[in-house]
Amino acid sequence: MHFETKAIHSGAEVDEATGAVAPPLHLSTTFERTATGDTPRGYSYIRDANPTQSRLEEALAAIDSGAASLAFASGMAATSALLQSWHGHVLLPSDGYYAVRALASELFPSWGLTHDYVAMDDLDSVRAAMRDDTRVVWCETPSNPLMTIADVSALASLAHERGAILVVDGTFATPALQRPIEQGADVVLHSATKYLGGHSDVQGGTVTFASKDALYESVEHMRTITGGVASPFNCWLILRGIRSLPARMRVHCENARAIASFLTTHPRVEAVHYPGLESDPGYAIAKRQMSDFGGMMSFRVRGGRDEALAVTAKTRLFTRATSLGGVESLIEHRASSEGPGSRTPENLLRMSIGLEHYEDLIGDLREALG
Ligand SMILES: Cc1ncc(COP(=O)(O)O)c(C=O)c1O
Repeated sequence: MHFETKAIHSGAEVDEATGAVAPPLHLSTTFERTATGDTPRGYSYIRDANPTQSRLEEALAAIDSGAASLAFASGMAATSALLQSWHGHVLLPSDGYYAVRALASELFPSWGLTHDYVAMDDLDSVRAAMRDDTRVVWCETPSNPLMTIADVSALASLAHERGAILVVDGTFATPALQRPIEQGADVVLHSATKYLGGHSDVQGGTVTFASKDALYESVEHMRTITGGVASPFNCWLILRGIRSLPARMRVHCENARAIASFLTTHPRVEAVHYPGLESDPGYAIAKRQMSDFGGMMSFRVRGGRDEALAVTAKTRLFTRATSLGGVESLIEHRASSEGPGSRTPENLLRMSIGLEHYEDLIGDLREALG
C-alpha cells in the first residue's frame, strides 16, 4: 500500500457501535470491568490506554513502518520516557534540539545515564566516541536548527556492531519523507506538535519501535507510571493531521525548494542550510534516505545578531514565532529562542515554510532583506 493510502486508512475503521466514519473521541477516564474484575475490552484507566489513543498508535505504527507505537503528551515527554528506560552511556548529536541537551545536563545523572556529544554526520567521530557501555546512539536528521543530515543506515550498522541501538528523531522530515525504521533504526520519535498535527494547535509526541519487544514494554510502563500520556482530544487531532500529512508535505517541500534557491542568490545571505540544495553537504545522503527535503530551513544573514533580528522585524507574512510544521510560515531568531547556553550562530534565522503561495513568501523575504 502506498504511504498516502496508509495515512488515510490506518486506525480508521468505521465505528462499530454507530457506523461513524470519522473516529469517535472517547473522553472517558475509566472503563467498566466485568463482575469477575476483568477488562475484556482492553481498557481500564486513561493513563494506561484509551480507545482514541489506540487508533492513533495503530496509524503511527503503519506510517512509521514499525511494529508498535506509543503516543505521549509532548515530544519531550516521549524523549524523557525513552531515555529513562535505559542505564548507561548515550551518544547525543552535537547539533540537535536544545531541550535534549537540558535533559542531559540536568537529569541524566539522576537517571543513571552518561553522555557525550558527537557530530552525527561524521561517522569516524561517532565510531571513536562509542564506548563499551554505549546503549544508545541518538540522532536527529535533519537536525534542529542547522539541518545537518545523518546517514541512518550507516549509523544503525555502527550502533548494532557495538550492541547499541539507534534512535532517530525524525520530527523535521516526518514519516511522509523519511522512514528510519526501513533503514535500520530501532526507534523513531516525532514531536507531533509539528507536522503530524500540522496546524499549530495540538501538542504531542510519538515513539515507534521496529519490534514490539522488551524496550517497547518498558517505555510503555514508564509512560504509565510517570503519566506523560497524550490526552484523547490531542490524539484525535493528531490522527486527523496524519490524514492530510502526505498532501501537506508536498506543498511544504515545493515551497521550501523555491525559497531556498531564492535565498542562495541574495547578497545579504551568507549561507543557506537546506539539504535540498545540491551544494548542501547533506544533499547526497538526504536524496538517498528521504523522498523529498522537507519544509524546514535556516539561513545566516551577513553581519550578526542585530542584522538577523532586523530581518525578522520586517517580515509581514512570516510570523516571528518558534515551533514549526503548521500551515503558516514562521521565522525565528533561533539563538534568542534557545536562550542562554545556545550554540546556534547569532546570525542564524530558522524558518518553517508554510502552505501559502511561495511567490508571496519570496516577496516577503525580499522586502525584509532589503
Ligand atoms: C526536533 C525536535 N525534537 C523534539 C522536540 C520536542 O517536542 P515538543 O515541543 O512537542 O515537546 C522538538 C520541539 O521543537 C523538536 O524540534
